[in-house]
Amino acid sequence: MKSNGKDVLRPPAEVRFADELRALSESDRAERPEGWKLSPRAVRSFICGSENPRITRKFYGDDALVERAVVGLLSDRGLLLVGEPGTAKSMLSELLAAAISGTSTNTIQGTAGTTEDQIKYSWNYALLLNEGPSLRALVPSPLHVGMSGGILARFEEITRCPPEVQDSLVSILSDKLLVVPELDGEDRVLLAKPGFNVIATANIRDRGVHEMSSALKRRFHFETVPPIRELSLEVKLVTEECTRLLSESKAGVVIDKGVVELLVTAFQDLREGKTAEGVPVEKPSAVMSTAEAVSVAYTAGLDAYHYGDAKLTPELLGRHLKGAVLKDNPDDVKKLRQYFDVVVKKRCASSSLWEDFHRARNLLG
Ligand SMILES: Nc1ncnc2c1ncn2[C@@H]1O[C@H](COP(=O)(O)OP(=O)(O)OP(=O)(O)O)[C@@H](O)[C@H]1O
Ligand SMILES: [Mg+2]
Repeated sequence: MKSNGKDVLRPPAEVRFADELRALSESDRAERPEGWKLSPRAVRSFICGSENPRITRKFYGDDALVERAVVGLLSDRGLLLVGEPGTAKSMLSELLAAAISGTSTNTIQGTAGTTEDQIKYSWNYALLLNEGPSLRALVPSPLHVGMSGGILARFEEITRCPPEVQDSLVSILSDKLLVVPELDGEDRVLLAKPGFNVIATANIRDRGVHEMSSALKRRFHFETVPPIRELSLEVKLVTEECTRLLSESKAGVVIDKGVVELLVTAFQDLREGKTAEGVPVEKPSAVMSTAEAVSVAYTAGLDAYHYGDAKLTPELLGRHLKGAVLKDNPDDVKKLRQYFDVVVKKRCASSSLWEDFHRARNLLG
């Protein structure tokens, strides 16, 4: 993969944070497990941030979860990150792979159409017909690449694959070897090098982990990634992410902290089914994740830049919130209307920001 990070839409974590990874590697005095680019301590610093060297925090939440995930990868099992959509499972998996193996792009993207070949290996048929089965004709899967190169293989959305296809991982994870029956001699058995392991992610909303076989479950260390609960942390994250995305889109927009706080408060109210003051709110069926809050703030920011006066306003947020809430079930409009009529209306009395937000109520019919 050729990229200096300037000519692509979203460079992978090892390119975006190349300077931080270099600084950590230079200052890392702790023991590095065989096949790892950094020590477990430095991996934690890369994800949770540190003062010296100066590393930005990337994952907001429980640092102990990150430690457990790293320890899980050191064990003889794979790591499975599960949770609601938009809780940063994929982000965490990408950061772990970038820090531990120096590459996060050795990834299988699981879908209902994923086949066993895509998990193990397939063939370059022109070479296969010409020369017969050989290592040259074999097209390795990310799992094969991980085993032969001693690096992590990421398996995104593993539970979207049919269970019988997922199960091709069972023996690979326990024996750490892959047999290629078509080949002879030494090439027949691929033994995994140190540094190899699998980080999988699964979303509990769609096809859940209950459809995964118990045999495969036993070969994974499970970590549940929860949504962020603390308002101030979520506000900080949404502000930082939205600022970064807007600046990457070359859209200079004024982002007021109070406005982001209003958005995150509305998201938390709708996510929890009650406000901080204890007023019950009907939960929409759409997932009100932090990732969705970032996306609402970002699109509202683009709207402000291109059609407004380059200032993120509560009314614009309200306008874009509608699309996020009504994704799953059009009937959710009633729940959102009720939220505006009961909760937002009450807050209007004491806050001009909430009053501005309430203007978006007109769009809900
Ligand atoms: N705890 C968190 N720390 C940092 N960023 C977060 C956190 N929670 C959510 N985010 C934001 O959410 C974005 C999307 O997260 P990501 O795509 O990794 O979620 P996911 O859990 O894999 O979702 P899905 O199940 O839909 O695949 C991140 O890029 C980040 O902006
Ligand atoms: Mg994901």
